Amino acid sequence: MSNASDVIVVGGGINGSSIAFQLAKRGYKVTVIEQSKIAAKASGAAAGMLGAQTELIGNGPLFRLALKSRAMFPAIIAELEERSGIQIGYETKGIYKVAVSEKHEQDLKALIKLHNTAGEKAEWLSNDELIKREPGLAKSMLGAMFIPEDGQVQAYELSLAFAKAAISLGVEYHDFTTIHDFIIKDGKVTGVQTSQGDLLSDSVVVAAGAWSGLLLEKTGITLPVFPVKGECYSVVSNRKLLNSTIFTEDCYIVPKKSGRYIIGATMRANTFDEKVTVGGISSLMNQATALLPEIANAEWEKAWAGIRPISGDGLPFLGEHPYVKQLYIATGHYRNGILLAPATGELMADYLDGRREPFMPFGLSRLDPNHLFKGESKCI
Ligand code: FAD
Ligand code: GLY
Repeated sequence: MSNASDVIVVGGGINGSSIAFQLAKRGYKVTVIEQSKIAAKASGAAAGMLGAQTELIGNGPLFRLALKSRAMFPAIIAELEERSGIQIGYETKGIYKVAVSEKHEQDLKALIKLHNTAGEKAEWLSNDELIKREPGLAKSMLGAMFIPEDGQVQAYELSLAFAKAAISLGVEYHDFTTIHDFIIKDGKVTGVQTSQGDLLSDSVVVAAGAWSGLLLEKTGITLPVFPVKGECYSVVSNRKLLNSTIFTEDCYIVPKKSGRYIIGATMRANTFDEKVTVGGISSLMNQATALLPEIANAEWEKAWAGIRPISGDGLPFLGEHPYVKQLYIATGHYRNGILLAPATGELMADYLDGRREPFMPFGLSRLDPNHLFKGESKCI
């Protein structure tokens, strides 16, 4: 292999494919290298919530990026469904962030104020109001923060749609091909070494999710991106159990099309092991049944696990390598990589295209410890 591309993207997850799609729209010749199959890792494992206000607190740069990305969904879904022929299951029925303790209720009420002050919609529902909307929920809840503009998609379908749309624009995918190292000349990347031979390009974008740090060690940097394993399971029910997503800190239930429900997700740091454990699934089952008792009668479908990429400060890395020119990095999207994919693709493509300055809060200058941002993405 030695055909030259303008850009090689490492990783066929949702972020790699979103970047490839946007670059192809700008006329770049792009090749995506994936060690497994398209969306076989975190992007295929995700529950698909678009939880900009559900999952992110504060009014910092990541919250604003999440809102920007959420706002891109209607147009990008229409474009991707048209180009790929894939139904992505985009829904905007809102998310209920349920209070399970008095402290949690106070925190959520404060969060509603913060979001309203930032101009975003969110309202408090008493337990009675919540039960009217979601009669299947346990009566023990103290109420909920309702976020009408958060929604959901089918994460695997969205990832695949980005890839198929990219392919329709001429992007080449090489699956079951691993990138082992970069080819660097005079401080600039000129290609990659793969399990199938060398490939040349003007630029390389590393969108290798939780594995990005391991690969970038070859360039002499320690990128603080770590794996956080998440397990999920799904059930099906002929009876409608829920209208919209129910979210608590330790468990969420996402109603999908055709009577399917995804229940997630465990959080286990510092492991790349994708095995599903009895302990993980049974703890989710206990929590889901406490939230929605009738789910105990639903039919078992399947269980799975994925590896989320978390950065040291909770913000994604979106920028150029600190020492190697035209080697770019887009990773660290942690629990929100599906939500953030549209903005990630657009920002990175604009950046490579010279239409945008580096995005300081997400740049690689943070590798200097004096620049570390003090956590924004903590969930309450
Ligand atoms: P990945 O999807 O992991 O893709 C990276 C790809 O790079 C992989 O396919 C990998 O095989 C490939 N790769 C790695 N190294 C190499 C190499 N050397 N050579 C070639 N290829 C390589 N986010 C949301 O927004 N909403 C949700 O509801 C949600 N739910 C989640 C539930 C679970 C259980 C999990 C695990 C995650 C969830 N997430 C959710 C987070 C989201 O899935 C991730 O943030 C997102 O998928 C990251 O996408 P990515 O493309 O950066 O990484
Ligand atoms: N955003 C849901 C999860 O990561 O589990």
